[in-house]
Amino acid sequence: MKQAVYPGSFDPITRGHLDIIRRSASVFDHLTVLLAINPDKTPNFTVEERLEMVRLVTKDIPNVTVDAFQGLMVDYARKNEITVIVRGLRAVSDFENEFQMALTNRKMYPEAETLFLTTSLENMYLSSSMVRDVARFGGNIEPFVPDEIVEEVAKRLLLTEGEEAK
Ligand code: COA
Repeated sequence: MKQAVYPGSFDPITRGHLDIIRRSASVFDHLTVLLAINPDKTPNFTVEERLEMVRLVTKDIPNVTVDAFQGLMVDYARKNEITVIVRGLRAVSDFENEFQMALTNRKMYPEAETLFLTTSLENMYLSSSMVRDVARFGGNIEPFVPDEIVEEVAKRLLLTEGEEAK
């Protein structure tokens, strides 16, 4: 059985992430969407909230499961005998960082391959911080996040009067 892992912060999950998830799930027998708990980031949504959102929007994809992990993604992959790491590439600007990460991961876990999927054209410009920005100031996030979580994300991030942006 060919298994892959798709790690990310998903703060929140976007239509771009979901596109990568669907396409990877059609290539592999099983895909684990791994919410990597990154100590360098201060997320707007808790781990539980993010897990819940990822589970909700992927519930119709039978070969996808969702998990969270703090530590190196290669350690998670090795422990679970997963040998493919999926990453999405949006623009040239993603390349350098992804290249560095893929090579570092290969050094640590040579049995694994990093596989890059190019993001669909309509999601090229998307990022979670852009979604957070739009939501904070009451903009319409419907084009950017999956339907099931539009309301929740909008409600949670909207700044109320007098509140300061995080
Ligand atoms: N569609 C939309 N947005 C996308 C996207 C896509 N297809 N792919 C990436 N992005 C965006 C994310 O929304 C996020 O945006 P933001 O910075 O505005 O919030 C940004 O690209 C980066 O997101 P993500 O892919 O989630 O990466 P990350 O920088 O949060 O890091 C890991 C994720 C998995 C690499 C990292 O947290 C990790 O692995 N941590 C564990 C430690 C480890 O193993 N590190 C690697 C050692 S080499």
